[in-house]
Amino acid sequence: MPEWLNALPKAELHLHLEGSLEPELLFALAERNRIALPWSDVEALRAAYAFNNLQEFLDLYYQGANVLRYEQDFYDLTWAYLLRCKEQNVIHVEPFFDPQTHTDRGIPFEVVLRGIQQALRDGEKQLGISHGLILSFLRHLPEEEAFKTLEQAMPFRDAFIGVGLDSSEKGFPPRLFERVFAKARSEGLHAVAHAGEEGPPEYIWEALDLLKIKRIDHGVRAIEDERLMQRIIDEQIPLTVCPLSNIKLCVFEHMSQHNILEMLERGVKVTVNSDDPAYFGGYVGENFAALHEHLGMTEDQARRLAQNSLDARLA
Ligand code: ADE
Ligand code: ZN
Repeated sequence: MPEWLNALPKAELHLHLEGSLEPELLFALAERNRIALPWSDVEALRAAYAFNNLQEFLDLYYQGANVLRYEQDFYDLTWAYLLRCKEQNVIHVEPFFDPQTHTDRGIPFEVVLRGIQQALRDGEKQLGISHGLILSFLRHLPEEEAFKTLEQAMPFRDAFIGVGLDSSEKGFPPRLFERVFAKARSEGLHAVAHAGEEGPPEYIWEALDLLKIKRIDHGVRAIEDERLMQRIIDEQIPLTVCPLSNIKLCVFEHMSQHNILEMLERGVKVTVNSDDPAYFGGYVGENFAALHEHLGMTEDQARRLAQNSLDARLA
């Protein structure tokens, strides 16, 4: 990666902590926790990182998260991510975590949260990286389950800046979560949601109008709806775009076809993020580098993208 790109101060606003679980750490945690894995070694696991769509990735991602059992595991996961941020001049992070992925396996909510929180606090003190944590609901599960998760989170209200919505998009529109998002907002939490990754522009409208989100996660399919484009430009609603993720999950066939710079030039507040860096081939820095290599991103465009990420912070 060019040094000037690495040196740009950036914020990362779309990162799933469970998606930063590198194969080496996954194997180390499996050994520490005496969990048998279906892959013979790290290379065999990496070879399985070939996806045709979001669901194929999610199946592996939830399987990988199974090695996370104890507070120390969540600490190690988060700390490893923050060390990568430090290397790439990511000075502020607003990561997601998926409590249901863990509570549904019998891991107590507070075990997950304490490990993540302690690493984030150490990251602030020792690495100078500020943060705001976002609790994300799994949309393939019923809204009732999201309500239960919000209830579990409320004793720790101050640990979060907001709620998100992730997992399988198609067939699970934002409108299914209108009531739980209203409840979260009434507690003073910000709202964000994945929309328009695989799902249609209508899901972005619903996320804006029904969930009243402050940022759209992905949102690349907004470009199919001119009226929606005008709205997100007029209201300067940030999009947390994840270029390498979009290629790995076949949202675009090749990076040279990605629409992020076209959106930027039209005045959309787009930002660059890594989504699930361990699975998609890189962190924020590698995502910027891919735009430079395949889309001819200029230094001026990189600066605007980095500035957008700082402007779009919720914390
Ligand atoms: N969970 C982790 N990564 C995700 C993505 N890219 N889309 C939806 N849910 C996710
Ligand atoms: Zn995501």
